[in-house]
Amino acid sequence: MDRITTIEQYQAEYEKSIANPESFWAGKAEQFFWRKKWDRVLEWNFSAPSVKWFSGGRLNITENCLDRHLQGKAENPAIIWEPNTPEEPGRILSYKQLYEEVCRFANVLKKNGAKKGDRVCIYMPMVPELAIAVLACARIGAIHNVVFAGFSAQSLSGRIQDSDCTIVLCSDGAYRGAKVIPIKEVVDEALETCPSVQRVIVFQRTNSSIKMLDGRDVYWAEELKKADASCEAVEMDAEDMLFILYTSGSTGKPKGVVHTCGGYMVYTKYTFENVFQYNPGDVFFCTADIGWITGHSYIVYGPLLAGATTLMFEGVPTWPDAGRFWKIIDKYKVNIFYTAPTALRALQASGLDFVKPYKLNSLRVLGTVGEPINVEAWNWYDQNIGKGKCPIVDTWWQTETAGIMISPLAGITKTKPGYATLPLPGIQPILVDNEGKEISGNGVEGNLCIRFPWPGMIRTTYGDHERCRQNYFATYKNLYFTGDGCKRDEDGYYRITGRVDDVINVSGHRIGTAEVENAINQHPDIVESAVVGYPHDIKGQGLYAYVISSNQQHDLDLLRKEIAAIVNKAIGPIARPDKIQIVPGLPKTRSGKIMRRILRKIAEGDFSNFGDISTLLDPTIVETIKGDRVS
Ligand code: PRX
Repeated sequence: MDRITTIEQYQAEYEKSIANPESFWAGKAEQFFWRKKWDRVLEWNFSAPSVKWFSGGRLNITENCLDRHLQGKAENPAIIWEPNTPEEPGRILSYKQLYEEVCRFANVLKKNGAKKGDRVCIYMPMVPELAIAVLACARIGAIHNVVFAGFSAQSLSGRIQDSDCTIVLCSDGAYRGAKVIPIKEVVDEALETCPSVQRVIVFQRTNSSIKMLDGRDVYWAEELKKADASCEAVEMDAEDMLFILYTSGSTGKPKGVVHTCGGYMVYTKYTFENVFQYNPGDVFFCTADIGWITGHSYIVYGPLLAGATTLMFEGVPTWPDAGRFWKIIDKYKVNIFYTAPTALRALQASGLDFVKPYKLNSLRVLGTVGEPINVEAWNWYDQNIGKGKCPIVDTWWQTETAGIMISPLAGITKTKPGYATLPLPGIQPILVDNEGKEISGNGVEGNLCIRFPWPGMIRTTYGDHERCRQNYFATYKNLYFTGDGCKRDEDGYYRITGRVDDVINVSGHRIGTAEVENAINQHPDIVESAVVGYPHDIKGQGLYAYVISSNQQHDLDLLRKEIAAIVNKAIGPIARPDKIQIVPGLPKTRSGKIMRRILRKIAEGDFSNFGDISTLLDPTIVETIKGDRVS
């Protein structure tokens, strides 16, 4: 445990971390179990980019998540699992049980051909076996590639192919609220285009009838019967890959963000303990799915590295009713609760009758992540859930950063609604203008970059290092560019204003506009499309698609349905446009560039000032689009 306890101590740590980053992070790293200590703390240059933390160090992250806790914490709950249906009994796995389950499944993986360095795709609902699978991969040095189980077969296939996975772990089906989702069916469809996959291991959750392909598919439970409960952890280099996680960017295809063993371990534990001010014995409930980075870092790795009790919830916040989170909090006496603003807005809209039946008196700290939180939702959270007594940590970070970067420390940093407040020790934010010139001082706004490495940072994008350089390190020289806009107020507090690239944050999920446009353009009648974001009461941002159809006879409602279906198939329901407008043309400059600024304003319903439209090829198109806006 290594916790900052006062704001003065935060300031001192921060200064130390900037003046001497290597000794600062070495001090944090020393608290772990390493098979061999590192030779160098940090080597880096942002132009390649090349970043190495703790090189020469040898470790296995699961020895730090599990084995280390067997002395003294063996019987402590590691994972509490709450199923989708409240009536179904939950499960609690102690550290010892989790250790044994991970070892057994690691042996299953080995028996099925997985070795160090192999890529294993995991496409599963939120059941303990998902966390076990993640850790079992790490135990044997296989690289996990978890894909959120709401993505379509095409998306899944793309992610499996891009990282050449040899094994897929999935379930038969998944429970989500009142629905049963056919997981294995999606996997079967995806695998039609994935020749690299040799083995599929199927966990039976819903006992739905599924097809099993002879020679390829095996049942999880059957395999486990033959597996031993001990499995030596494979020794990894600090810079060996731990996992790949795909995320959307401003260009077409999602990219596989790569994180490595040593730095990720050091960074997730440090941020978990400090941001949430974790106390031994606390029950921590993060409502994310393990399919996203928040689940990787703050359901699985961060809490387990700290020896905490982490709660995994299989279901959705509004089923059977909008009081489900609060019911779970009372049931397990949750102390720290971490969720997304979009969930809070949806629950706020359902009304206080769903909150009132619950005491919520175990709560000590509240957190939010994934998107800017509006002041109204922040206040609602503060008053009705925290009862005015729980600090709220608005945590800003990204898939690429592995862990929280800018955030209050709970109860230590004075909070301000809508502000992620101050950088964590070791994090050096900088605001720059569009030319890359530093914007210094306070009361300013610019593009958010980070000027110095931190242990959890992205190392590469899988299979395409140049893409990593282009995306994050080429926009501004010697800086990591986040893609976010940001304000720094008079107090030096940071407020993230949203993406400045072509990425839209829908319900806390990153959606690349190019990806959605590519999907829409697959429709045979669609000539061209442009997708922009607009403010949405619950989702934060919604997707507004402008499409040009070559078929004048098309029934427009039918066309909209077909477009929605195509996006569902290509990406998944999370990327389905909220509004679709059929337009005769798009506002383009003479050089053929779509003026998205204008489309965004029309989508927002703000017709006040379109700026200079004289450079448009056909300025009259603006009036036409405006007139047919979908409200
Ligand atoms: O735009 C920022 C927004 O979410 C993006 C990162 O998305 P993703 O990689 O999916 O990771 C989400 C969970 C860490 C960022 O570029 N974002 C994340 N947290 C916040 C936020 N925007 C405002 N405030 C936040 N606290």
